[in-house]
Amino acid sequence: MIRIEYSPKEGSFHLSNGRVSYLLALAGGHPLHVYFGRVLRAVREDMLSRRAGLTEETFTLHESPLDRLPQECPVFGCGDMREGMLQVRHADGTEALDLKYLRHTVLDGKPALPGLPSARGEGGRTLCLTLRDDESGLEADLYYTLWEDTDVLARSVTLRNTGKTRVTVEKLLSFCLDLEGHDARLLTLQGAWAREREWTERPLVMGDQGTGTVRGASSQQTSPFMALLFPGCTEEMGECLGFALCWSGSFLANVHVDQFGAARVMMGLQPFDFSWLLEPGASFTAPEAYLTWSGEGLGGMSRAFHSLIHRHITRGAFASAPRPILINNWEATYFNFDQQKLLSIAECARDCGIDLFVLDDGWFGHRDSDNSSLGDWTDDLRKLPGGLGALSDSVHALGMKFGLWVEPEMVSPDSALYRAHPDWCIHAGDRIRIEGRHQLVLDMTRPDVREYVFTSIRDALERGKVDYVKWDMNRNINMIGSALLPPERMREFPVRYILGLYRVLEKITSAFPKVLFESCAGGGGRFDLGMMCYMPQAWTSDDTDAWMRCRIQYSTSLVFPPSCMGAHVSAVPNHQTGCVSPLLTRAAVAMGGTYGYEMDPRTWTEEEKETVRALNRQVRAWQEVLFYGDFRRLVSPYGGEACAWMSVSPDRKRAAVTHVFKDGHVNRIPSLLRLTGLRPDADYRVNGLETVCGGDELMARGIPLREPSGNFGAQQFFLEAVE
Ligand code: GLA
Repeated sequence: MIRIEYSPKEGSFHLSNGRVSYLLALAGGHPLHVYFGRVLRAVREDMLSRRAGLTEETFTLHESPLDRLPQECPVFGCGDMREGMLQVRHADGTEALDLKYLRHTVLDGKPALPGLPSARGEGGRTLCLTLRDDESGLEADLYYTLWEDTDVLARSVTLRNTGKTRVTVEKLLSFCLDLEGHDARLLTLQGAWAREREWTERPLVMGDQGTGTVRGASSQQTSPFMALLFPGCTEEMGECLGFALCWSGSFLANVHVDQFGAARVMMGLQPFDFSWLLEPGASFTAPEAYLTWSGEGLGGMSRAFHSLIHRHITRGAFASAPRPILINNWEATYFNFDQQKLLSIAECARDCGIDLFVLDDGWFGHRDSDNSSLGDWTDDLRKLPGGLGALSDSVHALGMKFGLWVEPEMVSPDSALYRAHPDWCIHAGDRIRIEGRHQLVLDMTRPDVREYVFTSIRDALERGKVDYVKWDMNRNINMIGSALLPPERMREFPVRYILGLYRVLEKITSAFPKVLFESCAGGGGRFDLGMMCYMPQAWTSDDTDAWMRCRIQYSTSLVFPPSCMGAHVSAVPNHQTGCVSPLLTRAAVAMGGTYGYEMDPRTWTEEEKETVRALNRQVRAWQEVLFYGDFRRLVSPYGGEACAWMSVSPDRKRAAVTHVFKDGHVNRIPSLLRLTGLRPDADYRVNGLETVCGGDELMARGIPLREPSGNFGAQQFFLEAVE
């Protein structure tokens, strides 16, 4: 039962879903932050004024106390000397704002955010708190949503110019959470191509810290997520706060520890290289952010995010359904293929029990390498004499589904599209157009470009009768400039680009409701909740090495469940790292994600084919637990020599456990892996064997591990409760 209680006497709001509480209170008309954490029964008195000795008069004195108060929507320039979440420039060049309570409303569900992806509101309730700056007429709607079934608080902000003059928004973050102390460790995800989202922890110190990107995408270098781990927080126990943003472009996530040791947590659109002109009557909405408090350690935080994703973010036919086991030809052929080769790969894959054949890059224009043809989504008849349609028919005739790779936001300088429309790409006037992977980025702020992208991709999907799409994006944006945007709006470009992309994604995914979409960005360069609202899975990394994937998937699971993480078994030596790991290890690691293959199945021996068939049967039998079960991290690969995780069905009757040793061992005492999340009073059959183990024993003592022989040895345990 969700409660949103307003106490006029205290001027306080108490939001609660029975497990967590969020409290704020008005003082001098300013919304001050009071509490976010384990559920409280009631607010009995004005905790805040008692603490700070505040009275209404305090705010009429010449010195505002805001500099030392925890706030919900802080603004620099009206008493608070810290950076705020909002900054505007009025027509006269000044920036002061005095946002005070105007009204509040309580809504069932959650309003959709205009032009932005956001979580679905079913089963939720929302507080909308409207603040107003009387001098300028600027109003801010602060939205707070809690759900019955998910311990996450959604926050977003809409600014509205009800005044008579234009206002320039120079910064609008999605939320501020002011905490009293800073005795915590900051966890962020930092990385690069082929080593995305590395687990990065550090203590909070005075000043600014956090993460963010200016690359025009949520990026491989970081991720729109951070967490604060309070003393004693482990995977299973202790308190932490997690923050994530529903946005696919440049962002900022910052914690500022001030002179009093208080920590100000903020997250939202990257203010660097951003401004937005707000004409009288216009409004602007910041992306949605999600805040979660966990009293069950980092595992509890992740399960809250996973629940948010499964229940409120992913949508469409595949959101909570079984997904096909796919084979992708990229690492098997790269650009070097023809119809016959593709079909022989598909046929062999079909014989091994694989459902879906995905044709990756190189099927269009005259693309024999990565230096041409992006934008020309016409079939390359040299490679596919009957075009996509004939190939798709042949794949379907094999009894398989057909999938296609596209990279719609790009244009190659060597393309008919570029020759016809040289001004359709992002470019800064007559300056040199710097390429990345030999390509330029289309200007998704332009309606004509969006129309071209939509129709050309729609035609290809129709022609190819596709069942699956891999939507790629292989370079970041700089030297920003658009031929259509007026100079005073050019700093809106990075945001407008993503809004333009979202429009196209909305249109194309709605036009093909039966198609499974997977997003990709040079591996995991746009692995975020915004993309996940349109496409329920994303390619996690171009690094398909089993041990590297243990690291990448382990830390990605902080926010995302296995159902979101594209993961494939690839060839050895691995094409990225050169390392060799056993087939069973590569498969065990790919089962930590959506599971597929990215290698030439024609190289498999008969014995390997049998193994692959058995693996596919196992994946099908356990996919529901692997994808949608409660995910639990057991052993961290960061700084360690092993990695382990498990998924448990909601009724705790089935569990799938994976353990990977990095190196081979000799002459050691066999180790025990302690499991979590089982029923202590249940007995479990392990891997279908006769002997059963008690849930209590598996959790308190552990399951014995074989001593690994050779590098990268994996063991999997499939547990079923004995009735
Ligand atoms: C990106 C993707 C790869 C592959 C190539 C094709 O790098 O991440 O999986 O599709 O593009 O060019």
